[in-house]
Formats: sequence, C-alpha cells, structure tokens
Amino acid sequence: MTMKALVIYYSVSNHTASVANLIAEKLNVETEAIHTKDAYGDYIIDKTKREIENKDYPSILPLSHNFDEYDTVILGTPTWWVSPSSPIYSLIKTGVLKGKTIYPFITTGFDVSGVEEKLRELLPDSKVMPSLIVSYTNAFRETGDGEILDWASKIK
Ligand SMILES: Cc1cc2nc3c(=O)[nH]c(=O)nc-3n(C[C@H](O)[C@H](O)[C@H](O)COP(=O)(O)O)c2cc1C
Repeated sequence: MTMKALVIYYSVSNHTASVANLIAEKLNVETEAIHTKDAYGDYIIDKTKREIENKDYPSILPLSHNFDEYDTVILGTPTWWVSPSSPIYSLIKTGVLKGKTIYPFITTGFDVSGVEEKLRELLPDSKVMPSLIVSYTNAFRETGDGEILDWASKIK
C-alpha cells in the first residue's frame, strides 16, 4: 500500500535521519531532508543558541516535494535547546505545513520537555498528532525499533 504521506526531517548527526528512514520504509512513503543554506560546521552550539534565543532562523534550500500533494506530513526534528531545531522553524515559516495532519517525531539526548507543545503552538493551522520521542545516548538509540514502528503503524 502506498499512502499519501511524506516524511520530512532535519538532521545533523544522522539520528533523526535514520529514524526517518525506518518510518518511511515501514510506510512505503518518500522522505525529504531539510538543508540549511549555510552549514553549521564547528559553530553549531553558539549559532543555534543565538538562533533559538533571538528567533532568527536559518535560510533553508528549496524543497523538492510539492506539499499540495500530501495531507499527512511526518515531521522529524532533533531537540535543540529544549526546542525544535531551528531549521524546523524555518520550514514552518514557509507555510507548507498549513492544513496538514502532522505526526512529529523528536530525537533527544537528555531533555525533550515541552518540544511537542512548542510544535503545536507553531502549527495552529495544522492538526498535530501525538509525537514519538526517540532517545539517544550519544550515537546509541535507546528507543527500540518496535516502539518506532508501532507509532508509525498508527499513521493514516
Ligand atoms: C545545538 C544542540 C543542542 C541540543 N540541545 C538538546 C536539548 O536541549 N535537549 C536534548 O534532549 N538534546 C539536545 N541535543 C541533542 C540532540 O537533540 C540529539 O543528539 C539528536 O538526536 C540529534 O539529532 P540529529 O543527529 O538528527 O541531528 C542538542 C544537540 C545540539 C547539536
């Protein structure tokens, strides 16, 4: 079965990307990675802290999928400063998620409190479904495949 959903995500160290791929394979849907115009490189800590604090989000490259074709968007982000990552704010600002049903998955290293609520506030014109939290200890994923695939299987 091919459903009309798209997995879109941002990922720096591949945690969110690998979860995105697992979900997309399970549901047989396409993925799109968000790319910032400028790479963060060695300045990621300082730069992202400033972005989140100042609400000054990065430019992202044009998206390759036509969002008009999708009703359901599965949205993946790392946690940055107990917030969604700043490129996700940039994505939301483009307006492509308006009117969609959004299934968020959020990867975290230690503290993810309130990130889902922030997404809900940022997406008042979308239907935001309960999110999946995926925990990492360094590069090791603590959340098992079973939990991820269970969550994915509820996506309609
Ligand atoms: C700049 C920065 C800030 C972060 N802030 C948090 C945080 O506030 N809470 C948390 O749980 N993890 C935080 N992390 C850890 C990431 O959310 C976690 O490692 C995530 O899985 C990385 O995903 P990625 O590999 O897809 O980029 C932070 C990581 C970076 C790089």
